[in-house]
Formats: sequence, structure tokens, C-alpha cells
Amino acid sequence: MRGRLITFEGIDGAGKSSHIDAVSQWLTQNGRQVVVTREPGGTPLAETLRELVLHQSMDPLTEALLVFAARRDHLQQRILPALAQGCDVLCDRFTDATFAYQGAGRGFDGPLLETLEGWVQEGVQPDVTFWFDLPAEVAAQRRAAARAPDRFEAQDTAFFARVRQGYLRRSQQHAQRFVVIDALGTRDEVWARLSSALEERLA
Ligand code: TYD
Repeated sequence: MRGRLITFEGIDGAGKSSHIDAVSQWLTQNGRQVVVTREPGGTPLAETLRELVLHQSMDPLTEALLVFAARRDHLQQRILPALAQGCDVLCDRFTDATFAYQGAGRGFDGPLLETLEGWVQEGVQPDVTFWFDLPAEVAAQRRAAARAPDRFEAQDTAFFARVRQGYLRRSQQHAQRFVVIDALGTRDEVWARLSSALEERLA
């Protein structure tokens, strides 16, 4: 049986990363083999590209091309082989982040991103996407308590408000695979919402 590609999305500070290990444990307890990975990154080449994208200044088209180049390598070298072996692949961010950050955040052209998506993914889409949704102001307060920001985390609240709108648009265009998780509240409250969604979508 082919594995499932399960992606996790949200603006910086939404708290998605802290739940991925718990989802991995939940799947393992349900008898699944699991691979946990992230974007940009997940292979040596893609991790090198991640360093550039997160820390070097560049124009929005260069940024979009680099995240798609990283994604192509990640899909070919790691994601597709793991799915073919029957593993569930948990990926911390995927293409919805490109539409949200490079598209809505940087103001980059949607149709061009769709063209790149088609070339790079050749029809591959996540089976389920958990979008941790949080107002940009609340995410900014959470980020203020965290470590030194990268190029994206250093953006202002207006940028993240646009990114959130970008996720909203993608969730409407891809309603079947999107599960919206209200990310307000404590970690336990968010986990309670996520675990009932897991029962519904992945059991
Ligand atoms: P993030 O996933 O938040 O990792 P960490 O928790 O280690 O900070 O960081 C990745 C950053 O990359 C995030 O700010 C969003 C950005 N990003 C894009 O701009 N486009 C993309 O296509 C992807 C996958 C990520």
C-alpha cells in the first residue's frame, strides 16, 4: 500500500512543529511506518538551499525558484521513494507555504507558482494538510519570546496577515485535503483538536 503524504502548515509562531512528533507517535501506534521531514530541506542538497533561502537576501523570483528546486530534490530523493515503500511521510511545510509566503506574502504571481508546481510535482499533492491557523498578532507575540529570527520571522505583522490570507485561499482551492486546526489556546487544547482530526482523517 502506498503511504500518505501529510503536510503541516501555518504562519511562523502558530506552533505546528511542536505537534509533528506527537502525530508521528500516534501513527506508529496505529501500525504505520513514518518518515518525518521538512521543507525547505529534507535532503543534503535541499538543506543547503534552505540555508540560502532563510539567510541570504534575494529577489522573490529567485526565492521561489530555490524553494521549488529544493522541493524537486526532496520529492525525488526522499518523499516519493518513502511513499512507494508504504511509509507515511510527515512534512513540516510544503507547497502551500510557497503560495502563502512567496505568493501572498511577497506578492508573487499565482499563475507562475502554479506552473512551477506543475513542473516540479507532476501531479503529486499531499493527501492531508493540517493548517494551524492563528491571527498574525498572536503569532507575533509568540515569536517575540523565541530565538533570533530568520529572514521570514523578521517580517512585520502585516506580512504574516497576508501569508495567513494566502493559506486561507489555498485551503478554499484545496478544500478536500485541508484540515483547519484552530491554533489558539494551550498546546494541550490544540492537541485535543488535532487528535480528533487524526481519528477522522488518518485512522
Ligand atoms: P519553519 O518551517 O518555520 O522552520 P523553523 O521552525 O525551523 O523556523 O521555517 C521555514 C521558513 O521558510 C518559514 O518562515 C517559511 C519559509 N518558507 C517559504 O517561504 N516558502 C516555502 O515554500 C517553504 C517550504 C518555507
